Amino acid sequence: MKEYARITIDDVKRSDEAAALIDMQSRYLETLGYTEHGVRHVGYVSKTTANILRETGADERTVELGEIAGWLHDVGNSLSRTYHGLTGGALAYGMLVRIGMDPAEAAHVANAISNHEEETGVAGDALSSALILADKSDAHRSRINKKNYDEFDIHDRVNMSIKKNYLVVDRSKDVIRLVIIMDSTSAPMEYLQIYLARMVMCEKAATRLGYTFELVINGVLINHHKRSRGKLTLRSTEDVLSQD
Ligand SMILES: [Fe+2]
Ligand SMILES: [Fe+2]
Repeated sequence: MKEYARITIDDVKRSDEAAALIDMQSRYLETLGYTEHGVRHVGYVSKTTANILRETGADERTVELGEIAGWLHDVGNSLSRTYHGLTGGALAYGMLVRIGMDPAEAAHVANAISNHEEETGVAGDALSSALILADKSDAHRSRINKKNYDEFDIHDRVNMSIKKNYLVVDRSKDVIRLVIIMDSTSAPMEYLQIYLARMVMCEKAATRLGYTFELVINGVLINHHKRSRGKLTLRSTEDVLSQD
C-alpha cells in the first residue's frame, strides 16, 4: 500500500497552482462586479469550516481537510461562475493529488467543493455540510468591492447593510445559529430575496450534522422551528374556522 504525506493547509497555500487559481477567481469575479472572492473570503471559509467541524465533533484529520476545502472551494470561478462548484472540485482534485495528497482524501475534499453551491450541491457528509454553512454565512460589508459599489444592486445593498454576522454552534441545544445585524441600507426581505435558497441549503447541512439551523436577523428568529410540546389548546377567545 502506497504511503502518502499528510498534506496540510500550509502545503496548499504554498502551491503555485492554488495561488494562481485563487488569484484568477478573484480578479474575474471582481471584473464581473461580484462581491469579494479573494483570500479574505477563502480564509474566512477555511477557518470557519474547520471551526464548525471541530465544534461538532469531527476527528482532527477531517478538521484539516475542512481547512483545505474552504481555501479551495471557489477555484472553479477561475473558469466560469456557472457550475463553479463542479469545476472547482475537478480542479482541486488534480491539484491536491499533484502535491502528494492521498487520492482518497483528495476525492473527499473534491466532493465537498463540488457540493457547496445551491445550483447542484447536496451535502453528503460532515465535511460538505460544514463547508456550506461556512460559505453561506459570509455576507458582510467588508466583501463589497468599493470601486464598483452600486446602490441599485441588491447584492451590494444587502452586503453593505450587514454590520455584523457570526455563526454559533450551541451544543447544549443542538443548534447552529447564524446571527446577522443589518442597518437600514437594506432589509431582511432583501436579504432573503438573494439568500433564501442558500439558507434552505444551510438548514439541510445543519440537519446532516445532527443540528437545527437558526437564522436570526436583527434579533428575530426567521425560520421558526420550535416544536410544539404536548397538545395544542385553544385560548378562550379563539374559534376554529376550518377542520380537517
Ligand atoms: Fe462558491
Ligand atoms: Fe464562496
